[in-house]
Amino acid sequence: MSARNRIEVMHGVNLDQLGRRDPGHYGGITFDTLQYRVDTFGAELGLALRFFQTNHEGEFVERLHGLADTTDGILLNPGAWTHYAWAIRDALELTGLPAVEVHLSQVESREEWRRVSVIGDLCVATVSGKGVDGYRDALARLKESLGP
Ligand code: DQA
Repeated sequence: MSARNRIEVMHGVNLDQLGRRDPGHYGGITFDTLQYRVDTFGAELGLALRFFQTNHEGEFVERLHGLADTTDGILLNPGAWTHYAWAIRDALELTGLPAVEVHLSQVESREEWRRVSVIGDLCVATVSGKGVDGYRDALARLKESLGP
C-alpha cells in the first residue's frame, strides 16, 4: 500500500489577515510566513501538504466535500467558525478522515465563546496556544493517527 501522507491544511475566516491581527494573540506572523513554516514542518515529517484558505463558509464546506478521494488527513484552523459553524462540523464528519484542530492562540483562556468548539470531538487531537510551533505538534499527531 502506498504511504498515507496527503494532508489538507485548511484555514478559515480572517486567517489570511494574520499579519494585521492582535500580535498578543497571534504573534504578528503573516499568513504567508505561517504557510511557509507549516510546509517546512510537513516536509520534515514526510507529509505532502496542500493548503486552502477562504473567508466564505460555503467554500470551506465544499472543499471538505471534495476531499475524501484525494486526502489522507486534515489539519484545520477554521478561525471563528470553530465556535459556531455546525455546517462545517457536518461536512468534516462527512469526510470520514482523521483530523486535527489547531489554533495559534490559547482559545481556552480568552472569551467564554471561544471555549466552545463544534468540531473538537470529531478530531483526534486539538492543539492551541502554541503559536506556529503548535502546527508541528498537530501534524505529528495527525501523522501518528495515519499509522505506519
Ligand atoms: C483562532 C482562534 C479563534 O477564536 C479566532 O476566531 C481566530 C483564530 C486561532 O488560531 O487562535 O480567528 O482560530
